Amino acid sequence: MNYKDKIREIENFPEEGISFKDITTVLKDPKYLKETIDELTDYFSDVDVDIVVGPESRGFIFATPVAYNLGAGFVPVRKPGKLPAEVEKFEYDLEYGKDALEIHVDAIMDGMKVLIIDDLLATGGTISATAKLVEKLGGEVVGLGFFIELVDLNGRDKLDKYNVKSIVKY
Ligand code: PRP
Ligand code: MG
Repeated sequence: MNYKDKIREIENFPEEGISFKDITTVLKDPKYLKETIDELTDYFSDVDVDIVVGPESRGFIFATPVAYNLGAGFVPVRKPGKLPAEVEKFEYDLEYGKDALEIHVDAIMDGMKVLIIDDLLATGGTISATAKLVEKLGGEVVGLGFFIELVDLNGRDKLDKYNVKSIVKY
């Protein structure tokens, strides 16, 4: 599969100087959609996984089918104010300002083995916050999987204690 031919690059989106990696062109092709999900599933098939966590919103697209394939459950991590029951919140710094993510406190039980899947690893802020939430609830992060990794942003440097897999690197 030649993923880079399929991923659409949009220059200067959402701002000047950014080359946006548009995954909708991959998702709409049945062969590519299947291959992407299968590749992530296969990489973690020997790992014991109870729950797959996906961060809103693009993470949902990849995390849920991987959970289904692995016979695991799916848990969403969402932007603030979206989850209705009691939540754990983690705030993290952006280049300008702050952001936060939330998880239901009863979504993960102590000692559960948790795989986290997102579409993209850039600075690693989203995935680190997600891992912190899982660990706060007593979950054990057994892997981090991404479709795309933007290598120059050094997100992996924040993740050296984890088993990290990305399919396409830029
Ligand atoms: C994008 C992408 C990843 C994150 C990666 O999500 O889907 O989740 O950024 O960047 P980072 O490694 O620097 O944190 P975004 O926050 O744009 O929201 P979306 O998934 O709802 O589109
Ligand atoms: Mg996202």
